[in-house]
Amino acid sequence: MKKLDGKVALISGAGRGIGRSIALKLAAEGARLVVNDLDAGPAEETVQAVRAAGGQAVGCPGSVAAPDFADRFVGTAVKEYQGLDIIVNNAGYTWDSVIQKMTDEQWYAMLDVHLTAPFRILRAAQPVIRGLAKAEADAGKPTVRKVVNTSSVAGLFGNAGQANYASAKAGIVGLTQTLAKEWGRLNVTVNCVAYGLIRTRLTSSAAGAATTTIEGREIKVGVNPDLLAMMERSIPLGHGGTPEEAAGAVYLFCIPESDYVSGQTLMCSGGLTGI
Ligand SMILES: NC(=O)c1ccc[n+]([C@@H]2O[C@H](COP(=O)([O-])OP(=O)(O)OC[C@H]3O[C@@H](n4cnc5c(N)ncnc54)[C@H](O)[C@@H]3O)[C@@H](O)[C@H]2O)c1
Repeated sequence: MKKLDGKVALISGAGRGIGRSIALKLAAEGARLVVNDLDAGPAEETVQAVRAAGGQAVGCPGSVAAPDFADRFVGTAVKEYQGLDIIVNNAGYTWDSVIQKMTDEQWYAMLDVHLTAPFRILRAAQPVIRGLAKAEADAGKPTVRKVVNTSSVAGLFGNAGQANYASAKAGIVGLTQTLAKEWGRLNVTVNCVAYGLIRTRLTSSAAGAATTTIEGREIKVGVNPDLLAMMERSIPLGHGGTPEEAAGAVYLFCIPESDYVSGQTLMCSGGLTGI
C-alpha cells in the first residue's frame, strides 16, 4: 500500500523543474495525475515518464493564466478519474525589473500566473470538492483533501528587482490562509511551500543573456553566476536545492501524516530564514 494510492492530483507547471519532480514523486506513491505545462512537449514528457515508471497520468497543456484554463484542468480530473484529491499550484516564471522600469504588462503577468491562476483553479475546484465531501460525509467516510500552493522567500521577505513576483508570492500566502479557513469544513488542508534557491531553469547559471519564450514574450532566465555563488554561500546546508528536494516539501503536505496541518507556509530553503 502506497501513501497516495488512488488519489487524483492536479499539478501545474509540471513539464520541468520542481513541478516535474512533484509529478514523479506523487505518481510513485500511487497518485493518478493531471499534468499541466504551458509547453505541450515537456508536459507530454512528464506524462510518458510517469507511465514508464508504472504510474497513471494524462496531460492538460496550456497556460494557467488563460481565463478558461481552470475549468479545463479541473474538468480533466473529473472526466478521466471521477475524483479530485490534491491540487498543486506550481506553474510560474520570473520577469524581473527594478520598479522604475517595470511595465504594467510585467506587473500583471506575474500576478496572473502566480496568484490569479491559483485563485481560478481553486474556485473551479470548489463545487467538485464540495460535492465529493458531501457524498463522503453522507456515507460516513470523510476524506481529507490537499491543496499545496507555491511561494518563495521573495514573497516572504522581498527581493530587489522582483516587486511583481514578490507581491504575487506574498499574495498566495494570503490566499492559502483564507482558503484554509473556508475549506476546513470540507476537510481540505491548504498549505504553501516557500522555496529558497532551487536549481532549475528559473535559477540556472546565466552568464550572458539567456532568454526563453513564455506566452510570446522573450523573458530572461537564469541568475548571474557570481550572484548564484553568493546566494549558495548564505544557505546553511551549503547548496541550492534539487528539484527532488523541493518536491519533498510538497509531498509532506500531501500525505495522511499532515492531515491536521493547514494554513501553513513551509520554507524549503536549506535552512535559509531570510534574504
Ligand atoms: N527555483 C527556485 O529557486 C524557486 C524559488 C522560489 C519559488 N519558485 C517557484 O517554484 C515554481 C516552479 O519553478 P521552477 O523553479 O521549477 O521553474 P521551471 O522554469 O524549471 O519550471 C516551471 C514550469 O512552469 C511552466 N509555466 C510557466 N508559466 C506557465 C503558465 N502560464 N502556465 C503553465 N505552465 C507554466 C514552465 O513552462 C515550466 O515548465 C514557480 O512557481 C516558481 O516561482 C522557484
